[in-house]
Amino acid sequence: MKILIIYGTSEGQTRKIARFLEDVLQEENHKVVIADASDDPPPPSDFDAVLVGSSIHMHKYQRQVLDYVSKNVAQLNKKHSGFFSVCLAVASDLPEEHEEAEEIAMNFLYETGWRPSLKKHIAGALKYTQYDYLKRLVMRMIAKKQGESTDTSQDHEYTDWDEVRAFALEFAHIKN
Ligand SMILES: Cc1cc2nc3c(=O)[nH]c(=O)nc-3n(C[C@H](O)[C@H](O)[C@H](O)COP(=O)(O)O)c2cc1C
Repeated sequence: MKILIIYGTSEGQTRKIARFLEDVLQEENHKVVIADASDDPPPPSDFDAVLVGSSIHMHKYQRQVLDYVSKNVAQLNKKHSGFFSVCLAVASDLPEEHEEAEEIAMNFLYETGWRPSLKKHIAGALKYTQYDYLKRLVMRMIAKKQGESTDTSQDHEYTDWDEVRAFALEFAHIKN
């Protein structure tokens, strides 16, 4: 298959996940093009399948991803497509955090009208060393509430790479 991966990121974790998906799909002999939603990404028309991923910041997906999906929804709904949502809430042991992430994803799909063949929540990272003072403070509070690390002297990655690999393989093997 010729696969397009579009991603939106603030601190780079969603890009890292998108590149990992690219590697897995290339190992499976697919042709993959990867693009940042902010960099004038190609439309889905030239591809057999499309993966779109975005991180959640302040309960919202990246603006450019919302714009891309809204603009290309008719084509996306005709293709084999998958959505991966990256956030911290799904790293939590608290069920209400998972429910909130699911609600954000469902609202996004409802608003855009996109009906992806596959949807996956992926735990992101706490990048304390990249945050400014205020962001570090806020993120430490959120992390405490969700049961994640409050050690701001280093970054903490919660992404389960085996799960990401399994998602890529499931996506590649589902027939249209
Ligand atoms: C300012 C800020 C706001 C965030 N808001 C949320 C949120 O509302 N819900 C959530 O689950 N995670 C939230 N996160 C966690 C991010 O989704 C997580 O750090 C993710 O790995 C970011 O991915 P990115 O580097 O691709 O942007 C927030 C992170 C930051 C820095």
